[in-house]
Amino acid sequence: MGKKLLLEKAEVPGIKGYEVYRREGGYRSVEKALKMAEAEVVEEVKKSGLRGRGGAGFPTGLKWSFIAKPEGVPRHLVVNADESEPGTFKDRYLMEFIPHLLLEGMIVSSYALGSNDSYIYIRGEYDWIADILQEAIEEAKQNGWLGNNILGSNFSCNIYVHRGAGAYICGEETALIESLEGKRGNPRIKPPFPAVKGVWDRPTVVNNVETIAAVVPIINDGGEEYSKIGVGKSTGTKLISACGNINKPGVYEIDMTISVEEFIYSDEWCGGIANGKKLKACIPGGSSVPILPANLLLTTAKGEKRLMNYESLSDGGFATGSMMGSGGFIVLDEDQCVVKHTYTLARFYRHESCGQCSPCREGTGWMEKILLNIEKGRGKMSDIDLLWDIQRKIEGNTICPLGDAAAWPVAAAIRHFRDEFEWHVLNPEESQRRNYGLAGYAEPLAIATV
Ligand SMILES: Cc1cc2nc3c(=O)[nH]c(=O)nc-3n(C[C@H](O)[C@H](O)[C@H](O)COP(=O)(O)O)c2cc1C
Ligand code: SF4
Repeated sequence: MGKKLLLEKAEVPGIKGYEVYRREGGYRSVEKALKMAEAEVVEEVKKSGLRGRGGAGFPTGLKWSFIAKPEGVPRHLVVNADESEPGTFKDRYLMEFIPHLLLEGMIVSSYALGSNDSYIYIRGEYDWIADILQEAIEEAKQNGWLGNNILGSNFSCNIYVHRGAGAYICGEETALIESLEGKRGNPRIKPPFPAVKGVWDRPTVVNNVETIAAVVPIINDGGEEYSKIGVGKSTGTKLISACGNINKPGVYEIDMTISVEEFIYSDEWCGGIANGKKLKACIPGGSSVPILPANLLLTTAKGEKRLMNYESLSDGGFATGSMMGSGGFIVLDEDQCVVKHTYTLARFYRHESCGQCSPCREGTGWMEKILLNIEKGRGKMSDIDLLWDIQRKIEGNTICPLGDAAAWPVAAAIRHFRDEFEWHVLNPEESQRRNYGLAGYAEPLAIATV
């Protein structure tokens, strides 16, 4: 059983409410942090080695140290609770079952960053969770943890919940900022980075829900203690939302030393592949990261056991590895069709592209059409190379990483499962028959790919 820092108390009856949360030791980190200098809190977070849990894994303490401090200009902390990446549902769990943990982390982080007005940007579909957070904010206010002059420290902090309207792109931090300002959620060109010009052009730090929750144990136990958990640059614990063809889908807190094999097959976590099937492939870090076939998922190209951490999951680069990403772990069994799966993802990215840059706006739709044609047995061999070419021309050529996120799944599917694409081209009738009448599957459209 691994160490739990975030979910240890999540199942204590009544932990959602203030009384029980406080009785169980809640808000201790605020008491401690407010007796420290702001810079000391930042230093503890740096020492902890905490990396952002939103996807990119950027060191949190370092990010905090970039925040500009122009005289007389307010600064802001914005918590990214947009969580729209397919396969990722860990922040939801934290906010729904232990909302005060996020608020506690936010108060400490706001203090460290000098933010008197901090925001939670939550996806619109998490409507009931926004209500839970609002209720927790009221409780925290009534008990003196929010508002003016917290614990007589001279530090004041308010937290506001802002509901999004259901766009994946609003999870990208600059689109989120635009949306928070009341505009259409189009990503901004960087630089300037939010740390210099963020919400209302003020210095802003955007952090993921889990990242901010992790600040609580870091301050309680000290950054050094936190850094001892895990391995290498993967310190602390990580929430993983596991789904797909496994016996026990759910949200798990792991310390990042366990192997992927243990995670999939142990009863403590996923409990093995459902219905006694074989493991075919897995997308280990949310829909944007490269899919890996079973052999490369369980062992790296060097023949070492693949571990559930940042370094090991990306070992081999995109040729033979993938990424930790947001921790959305999507497992596919031997019956799943990678082409169909890739089409479904392509359809999602086409729908969610904001349309500002041509490679993403045109390329995502083009890839979707080609994938649908191949899947439906109407593709040509040259379509596979065309797909490869399109994804290459999207990657790295767009304003925000949604373009990369759309390109990588296609590239990885072709790289590791090219034979499956070819099978569809060579067996058009069987392809059509196989897909006939599948629930939830888009009706084929008349689409020209050239
Ligand atoms: C298309 C897109 C969607 C994103 N969605 C989320 C999201 O839902 N939640 C999140 O924390 N980060 C998301 N990110 C990453 C954010 O831009 C940002 O890096 C993150 O919130 C920083 O927090 P962290 O440093 O704590 O990881 C997304 C990025 C892109 C490009
Ligand atoms: S990459 Fe796509 S989502 Fe991002 S700014 Fe360009 S068009 Fe919009």
